Amino acid sequence: MWTFVVVSDIHVGSPRSFRFEPAWNENWQTAREQILEINPDLLLICGDLTRDGNLHKYELEAIKKDLDDLPFPYYVVPGNMDAGNKHTDIRGPIKDRDDISLNIRSEHLKQFSSVFGSLWWSFVYKNVRFSGFCDILAGSGLPEEKDFWKWMEHQKYQPRAKFHIWIMHYSLFIHDLHEPNYDIRDPEQYLAWYFGIDEPYRSRIFNVFKETNATIVINGHIHCRKTRYIEGIRFDSAPSTAFSQCKNLWDDGDPTLGFLRYDVYEDRIECSFIPLRKISNKKGYGPRGHPPPEKRDYSLAWEK
Ligand SMILES: [Fe+2]
Repeated sequence: MWTFVVVSDIHVGSPRSFRFEPAWNENWQTAREQILEINPDLLLICGDLTRDGNLHKYELEAIKKDLDDLPFPYYVVPGNMDAGNKHTDIRGPIKDRDDISLNIRSEHLKQFSSVFGSLWWSFVYKNVRFSGFCDILAGSGLPEEKDFWKWMEHQKYQPRAKFHIWIMHYSLFIHDLHEPNYDIRDPEQYLAWYFGIDEPYRSRIFNVFKETNATIVINGHIHCRKTRYIEGIRFDSAPSTAFSQCKNLWDDGDPTLGFLRYDVYEDRIECSFIPLRKISNKKGYGPRGHPPPEKRDYSLAWEK
């Protein structure tokens, strides 16, 4: 038996920013200590490494340095706070949130890659193939999207391993693989729109999972834990280590902070949830959500 660990939405921030939650940084250090005790063969991170890495390259660089000091390899995909949100041409109903201006952009992807390398990757370790990709590109219309789909389709022809683990940031679906696209304009549907992947990209990605014999697909973004099985593939929505949200998105979601431990045997993979053993209650500053530029007040910063 050997072990890999999956964390997500660690949201490590900086006191140089217009907002900072030291509790989230401390929670990551708690998770980090717990992971070091487990001493896994490798660590996967389903995006949102930073609080505002798309705006501040120094946040990406700081968490990279922290991860580089771990004694085992780690693999990341970008989250929306690292590289920008899922694309929309229509603004949603939330005041102070200009969804269109939050769209993923090439400059943010380039910034992310300049720190963490490729936006998609696949490799075999022991009896498992691991693959990860920047799902936020799907439907973005960015120049990088073409290469992204080319890479995805190419995965169908990669040599197989006994198991195949995929990681992504957004959730492939919210309630059902065959659900309709949610309406960003409808306040009742906004969150479901915000957290999931729309058609036709959802089906195209699912087809790649099927054709590559996916065993487990793990996503972040929602900060709430839930497992579903679709056509023999296990879908794990990973918890956050930083802060809980979306406890009402599903009837049986668990927003408890922590991470996922996967034990790999010859014939199966077992998943267990490891809660954080200590939750920080330190107070921070600055606005939540996605504030527009004029509401980002850097004079609040604890460190100049
Ligand atoms: Fe997040």
